[in-house]
Amino acid sequence: MSAPAAARSESALPVTLRWTGGLDGSLILIDQTRLPGELVDLDCRTVPQVWEAIKSLRVRGAPAIGVSAAYGVVLATQAVVEAAPPVFEETVERAIDELATSRPTAVNLFWALERMRGVLRGHAGEPSRQRAAALLAEAKVIELEDRAMCRAIGRAGAVLLADQSGVLTHCNAGGLATADYGTALAVFFAAHEQGKRLRVFADETRPLLQGARLTAWECQRRGLDVTLLCDSMAAQVMREGRIQAVVVGADRIAANGDTANKIGTYGVAVLAKHHGIPFYVAAPSSTFDFDLASGAAIPIEHRDPREVTEGFGRRTAPEGVAVYNPAFDVTPAELIAAFITERGVIRGPYSETLPALQAPWSALADG
Ligand code: MRU
Repeated sequence: MSAPAAARSESALPVTLRWTGGLDGSLILIDQTRLPGELVDLDCRTVPQVWEAIKSLRVRGAPAIGVSAAYGVVLATQAVVEAAPPVFEETVERAIDELATSRPTAVNLFWALERMRGVLRGHAGEPSRQRAAALLAEAKVIELEDRAMCRAIGRAGAVLLADQSGVLTHCNAGGLATADYGTALAVFFAAHEQGKRLRVFADETRPLLQGARLTAWECQRRGLDVTLLCDSMAAQVMREGRIQAVVVGADRIAANGDTANKIGTYGVAVLAKHHGIPFYVAAPSSTFDFDLASGAAIPIEHRDPREVTEGFGRRTAPEGVAVYNPAFDVTPAELIAAFITERGVIRGPYSETLPALQAPWSALADG
């Protein structure tokens, strides 16, 4: 069920997702497939609705997927709050497993779901309603931590950008891709708030145009100077000397620093290297997967060929043509100048420096 976000003024900043109500509440998402034309909320009340919202990219971006899935687990508890513990447990475990099948690449999804599973199991023996309350509390913590991590990423990364520099990004790693504020775009937003005059170049990001539809929209709303580029224009714009830094987000980062992000990111990193431009990856610790030694083990999502041949309802390729449509690629660690995280800027050698991210982090301690 969806309804226009009537109460929201056009100039207000978007609220990507929020839980409304108590244990019997629901998850409200901006339906990102409708942007930039319409700002419409989607009221998710069931696990299949959340699964579909993630699969269809109504909510997308690694951290936002993780937070949404956590709230999806809470929705699963609603029909069984009065049920006996085994029924409650079985229902919630099944929901966690189901949500984990929605998309394979962003590790934040699995990270958030395993946190929820840990809370479910950690409260074994308690009444079902009490366990449901613990799950809702955990989902809220995951959301709040994400908000805090994004702000910290912005603060940490802003120092890397000089006043009056041109910065390029790919896909959308903004407030829409997180609970709030973003990762790569957080760096631009924080620099802008510090008074730095940036010129942001947004790759349109074929085939689903997250850069054109979402990044351009977010930057405009926050008052940044943003210019939209077709993906194929980045090389020329770099050669013209218009770009002083590239900042992108990430869906999964292996222990050695190899980074999966939206398809096309690897090409941008190669171009940046050729032109001597620093290429930064901004991501919270929830996007790092220390179980994977290198990017070769990162599962890459392959999506419906129709996204390429008839995206947005208009056929742009002949019937029957073969299509290859991986949604992500992997940028080798050696092309990455630094990671911008909630703990600060991390430079190589990554196999030695990244493991520090496995220690607990507190937003309060960070200030
Ligand atoms: O397919 P999407 O739109 O979910 O892909 C999103 C990206 O690739 C983002 O850059 C990434 O998730 C980082 S979001 C802070």
